[in-house]
Amino acid sequence: MSIQRIGVVGAGQMGSGIAHVAALAGKDVVLSDVSDALVEKGLSVIRKNLGRQVEKGKVTAEARDAALGRIAHAVDVAALAGCDLVVEAIVEDEAPKRKLFAALDGLLAPGALLASNTSSISITRLAAATKRPDRFIGMHFMNPVPVMQLVEVIRGIATSDETAAAVVAAAREMGKTPVECRDFPGFVSNRVLMPMINEAVFAVFEGVATPDAVDTIMKLGMNHPMGPLTLADFIGLDTCLAILRVLHEGLGDDKYRPCPLLVQMVDAGWLGKKAGRGFYRYAGPGGERVTPS
Ligand code: CAA
Repeated sequence: MSIQRIGVVGAGQMGSGIAHVAALAGKDVVLSDVSDALVEKGLSVIRKNLGRQVEKGKVTAEARDAALGRIAHAVDVAALAGCDLVVEAIVEDEAPKRKLFAALDGLLAPGALLASNTSSISITRLAAATKRPDRFIGMHFMNPVPVMQLVEVIRGIATSDETAAAVVAAAREMGKTPVECRDFPGFVSNRVLMPMINEAVFAVFEGVATPDAVDTIMKLGMNHPMGPLTLADFIGLDTCLAILRVLHEGLGDDKYRPCPLLVQMVDAGWLGKKAGRGFYRYAGPGGERVTPS
């Protein structure tokens, strides 16, 4: 099946990025969230990031305007009824995701596909909230979506070959490189990334080095674009902790136990860049890093 009309539920950082790349690729997009203000906030992020791409000469002003013209806004999920594929990018919490998918299942055409952008919740469990587990899949975009090449495509136990093929094709049409994996805790991306971040936190916790030293070693020594603690601040320390807990519980191995310092920082509300403080300090929530941190 070919996917032309894409619904995106959740107009936050990930949802707005997904809407951005889909619209730029010529798809008709319906971007929805629970309030007009949240949809408008997502659209302003899209406008800003498209503007940045125009400034860099990567996108023409005409393509930007056409992309923005292809994004419809919605607050009621009923507006998603005509979509070929709906990608969910709401809060990383299983109960509201299951509720949303059950509602979408009752609304969409029988052949339409459902995808979750979850970073660690079981695709098989989310699919079980619907009567179309064969047409349900994980489509895990990376942040920042307009820049990152990868889409991790996660098959639940019941996902059909046709669904996987259609979603892989749609991801390619959006200019991404899809890579398939199976539905086990953390999939591949976070099963590998989060233990590295956790180990970096342990290095600070045990006084091996400062956050800046850990990051500089990994940046200059391993050619990572960001050190692991800068990346953790960027992702959100609460998200990192939640994913580590999924790995710890789901795989039952203490090698995934979250560092106590990470737990303590989350308890303090030091959630990273979005909170203005994490391993580093920022000029307010979402602001630029201030030095010395
Ligand atoms: N939209 C559009 N373009 C953007 C952008 C955005 N939101 N953010 C950055 N860019 C562009 C910039 O304009 C710039 O373009 P040019 O190359 O044409 O100049 C380019 O991306 C690089 O940006 P900057 O020069 O501002 O800064 P940088 O070189 O430090 O790169 C970065 C920023 C791309 C974020 C880079 O640091 C990086 O790749 N970091 C690692 C990101 C990463 O690992 N993401 C995955 C996180 S894990 C996840 O998402 C999943 C999960 O489940 C937790």
